Amino acid sequence: MVFLFVAPQAHAAGGNTAELPDVHFSFEGPFGTYDRGALQRGFQVYKNVCSACHAMKYLSYRNLADMGYSEGQIKAIAADYEVTDGPNEEGEMFERTARPSDKFKAPYANDAQARYANNGALPVDLSLIAKARGEGPHYLYGLLTGYEAPPEGVTLAIGQHWNKYMEGNKIAMAAPLSDDVVAYEDGTPTTKEQYAKDVSHFLMWAAEPKMEVRKRTGIKVVLFLLAFAGIMYAVKKKIWADLKKK
Ligand code: HEC
Repeated sequence: MVFLFVAPQAHAAGGNTAELPDVHFSFEGPFGTYDRGALQRGFQVYKNVCSACHAMKYLSYRNLADMGYSEGQIKAIAADYEVTDGPNEEGEMFERTARPSDKFKAPYANDAQARYANNGALPVDLSLIAKARGEGPHYLYGLLTGYEAPPEGVTLAIGQHWNKYMEGNKIAMAAPLSDDVVAYEDGTPTTKEQYAKDVSHFLMWAAEPKMEVRKRTGIKVVLFLLAFAGIMYAVKKKIWADLKKK
């Protein structure tokens, strides 16, 4: 039944990173599912904080329907952005309000611009990050809550920060989260840890939106195989019972 689980992968082989914090996500285990509230809050954290630097190029606004947003809400979310379209009849590119079918608007026009704005470091696209790093959402939660003052004797270059879960411990991203930076409407505590958990939940969904279907299919296959094994066993007994009589 191992294939039903989100396979635990080895954490990035750094050797010098701390053991990841023990945090539980509702989507873990063979019956785990995404929590719509956590997904919506996580999207809010991405939108208000991370999207200033990180693109999610594989997502379109209409994908948010998966998380329980209505068509009207999605239209309103998209309408906050201006995207480049064209060329028009005169061969010119033009700006227009984003539609649900548009991809998430990227913060920078290209990688060079992104690096230039971030001290030479590239803020990775976050669409698939939860699958691209060992321990996925657990690593992301750790990274976002793992900033500390560097140990004595360690000097950091300008723009570098100390993070106990980053490979090599030096990261060019300043701690993006702190308490009360995003307002939640459902009464969930607005702490750094809660934001980290929710945005990791959201990033897992972005990397594997069909996880629940995959698990349901896996369970059906196992149930089928069990029932089938039972039938075959009964058939075998019947056949041998008849043969033994002769
Ligand atoms: C001010 C810009 C900025 C913001 C805001 C920001 N990041 Fe980053 N992020 C960066 C940069 C730059 C890097 C590259 C760091 C490096 O290569 O050392 C990075 C790297 C990362 C990485 C990759 C770490 C690794 O293992 O290589 C992840 C994951 C990440 N950011 C997640 C987030 C999330 C989630 C948020 C929102 C809560 C966020 N970032 C907000 C600039 C930003």
